[in-house]
Amino acid sequence: MNLPELAAHIAAEFQKHYGRAPRWIAAAPGRVNLIGEHTDYNDGFVLPLAIERYAIMAADNSVAAGKISIYDAAFKENATIDISAPVTKGEPKWSNYLRGVLAGFQQRGEIIPALDVAFLSTVPLGGGLSSSAALEVCTVTLMEAATGKKIDPIEKALLAQKAEHDFAGVPCGIMDQFISALGREGHLLLLDCRTRQTELVPMSDPSVALLVINTNVKHELSGGEYAERRAQCAEAASHLGVKSLRDATADQLENAKTKMSEVVYRRARHVVGEIERTVHAAEGVRHANWPGVGNLMYASHASLRDDYEVSCAELDAVVEITEDIGYRGGVYGCRMTGGGFGGCCVALVKTDCVDAITKKIAADYKIKTGIEAAIFSSRPAAGAMIIKG
Ligand code: GLA
Repeated sequence: MNLPELAAHIAAEFQKHYGRAPRWIAAAPGRVNLIGEHTDYNDGFVLPLAIERYAIMAADNSVAAGKISIYDAAFKENATIDISAPVTKGEPKWSNYLRGVLAGFQQRGEIIPALDVAFLSTVPLGGGLSSSAALEVCTVTLMEAATGKKIDPIEKALLAQKAEHDFAGVPCGIMDQFISALGREGHLLLLDCRTRQTELVPMSDPSVALLVINTNVKHELSGGEYAERRAQCAEAASHLGVKSLRDATADQLENAKTKMSEVVYRRARHVVGEIERTVHAAEGVRHANWPGVGNLMYASHASLRDDYEVSCAELDAVVEITEDIGYRGGVYGCRMTGGGFGGCCVALVKTDCVDAITKKIAADYKIKTGIEAAIFSSRPAAGAMIIKG
């Protein structure tokens, strides 16, 4: 479903459930990260794009004072959030993404109106495509429409990130919420996570396409591995005497190798190298140097697999398959994308070869793992928007 179809669909679902048309519709996309993994919380660079998969919400004012009713149109489930007091965590679990944002609004001193809401999402859940960030940013955007108060996109992203920290328990960086809020059609977003400066890097060469390959192995970032990586990075930075790994060079790290454990050294080696690769990849995209960008993607994957240890057998299988297809078969590069431990790979491929590559990856992945992959291609999409209201 494209965005206009999705908007019509959620409006119809709202109408069916609440018996009237919605007054507002808001949407926010998921993302893939082309390169720059586990660099955001090290003050480094990331280079994501928003994808044509969205969380979408339709809403209207409600007569039930002090409440927000939410209807999950995909799973036919209802939730009610009490907004007459400070919003707290609650059930069902997914409602916490909305609760976190509403709590953030309350902390800003905003009056939240009573609402009836219907939502659904085409961002695969737990697939490492930022389904949660899409839901959070969509909620902020809906509240923007419903309260009539414009929120600066950076503030919007930070509000959504705080919801993830406080209500979902994931100490994430700023990448996912930033790209969901600030994405632009036909562009990648080069984000300096230290200064929060952004540069939109055009990616409109019709000869290349991006494939997203979902391993269909679920990833769960609240499992502790993510927080552990963050702590290891902080430890490496303190051994190096720098504020964050953004300030460290490869030489500095080599010279200080004996000051830290072997594992902490490898974590830092990934981050320092990945920040450099990301800057080079942005340069490669600017010059349409696709083989160069592809090689950086493969290098990124190897580093995430061997030094950062956040890949898994299924993600590695996808990358191996694309390496076998190779440049001659139309693949420039491929890597895991997102937090890791399952989820998706992103591949940079020749547009002419998309069909053949998709078939080959699907067939070989099934043989190697016994699992059906879900594969789709997406152009860089626009960030969060109010569609109606
Ligand atoms: C998750 C987090 C992001 C980022 C990536 C890894 O998606 O939410 O902030 O750290 O992992 O690059």
